[in-house]
Amino acid sequence: MSIPSVVITGAASGIGRACVHLFSARGFGVVAVDIDEAGLADLTSATAGVGPAVVTLVADVTQEESGVAMARLAAQRFGRLDAAILNAGIGGTLPWEHEDAIARLDRILAVNVRGVAIGIRSVVPAMRATGGGAIVVTASSAGLAADPGNWAYNASKGAVLNLVRAAALDHAADGIRVNAIAPGLTDTPLMARHRTDPTVVEAVARRIPLGRWGNAEEHAAAIWFLASPDASYITGAVLAADGGLTAMHGAVPPPPPRPEI
Ligand SMILES: NC(=O)c1ccc[n+]([C@@H]2O[C@H](COP(=O)([O-])OP(=O)(O)OC[C@H]3O[C@@H](n4cnc5c(N)ncnc54)[C@H](O)[C@@H]3O)[C@@H](O)[C@H]2O)c1
Repeated sequence: MSIPSVVITGAASGIGRACVHLFSARGFGVVAVDIDEAGLADLTSATAGVGPAVVTLVADVTQEESGVAMARLAAQRFGRLDAAILNAGIGGTLPWEHEDAIARLDRILAVNVRGVAIGIRSVVPAMRATGGGAIVVTASSAGLAADPGNWAYNASKGAVLNLVRAAALDHAADGIRVNAIAPGLTDTPLMARHRTDPTVVEAVARRIPLGRWGNAEEHAAAIWFLASPDASYITGAVLAADGGLTAMHGAVPPPPPRPEI
């Protein structure tokens, strides 16, 4: 018997974890991939009984064998593969003058770009075999514009956006749609070190037209849409899910937040 299934990378935390909950609750078998073994164990208990099945795979997305293993696991456990959410990503850009700056760039590019390329290559054969599928990549608003002190991450997310467009062209004839979401500032463990000072959190929120940080569940909802048949005519697209951040030119400060009604 086969059931709809999805592979989700970076599944142990943040946006990926919210995707596991959403897809699982909506009837998908989930292959949850992460390098964080303890986080996956915790995910397994948190999702027990929610959907058909969440199977976990401890793997580093930068390794080609990880891609092979996740596609094989989906085939073995669920008999088909409908969607892939290639979401694993890291930040941690170092200052230009830091002695490890280029080594860190290499790792950021490996996870955020190479990992996505490996993911796409790995899932395409299974999707092609059933006449199509949907791939959604978690990019970033930091791939649409740059930030001071974030050059390595900015480079990786800019690169992955064009990788998504190129893959969408190459796999359109297979019925495989490839899209990206570009989240803005989001309250997940990735951003924890930027959220220790409440005044900084507030100051950043004032620069976002919707007046607040995003949350992982909002991004999971956007990813669900792009993966679903409701997005059947959308491929090669980038959906900004950033509270209006990248809609703003920035020359004029946003208006002050309205009082709560
Ligand atoms: N949080 C934000 O503000 C924000 C904004 C824009 C884009 N994003 C992107 O969203 C995605 C998810 O980030 P998040 O905020 O949920 O972060 P997170 O740190 O909460 O989750 C990322 C997950 O990826 C996993 N991971 C890291 N390297 C891996 C590897 N080599 N192989 C397998 N798994 C690996 C981590 O263990 C972690 O569980 C990332 O691609 C990130 O760049 C986040």
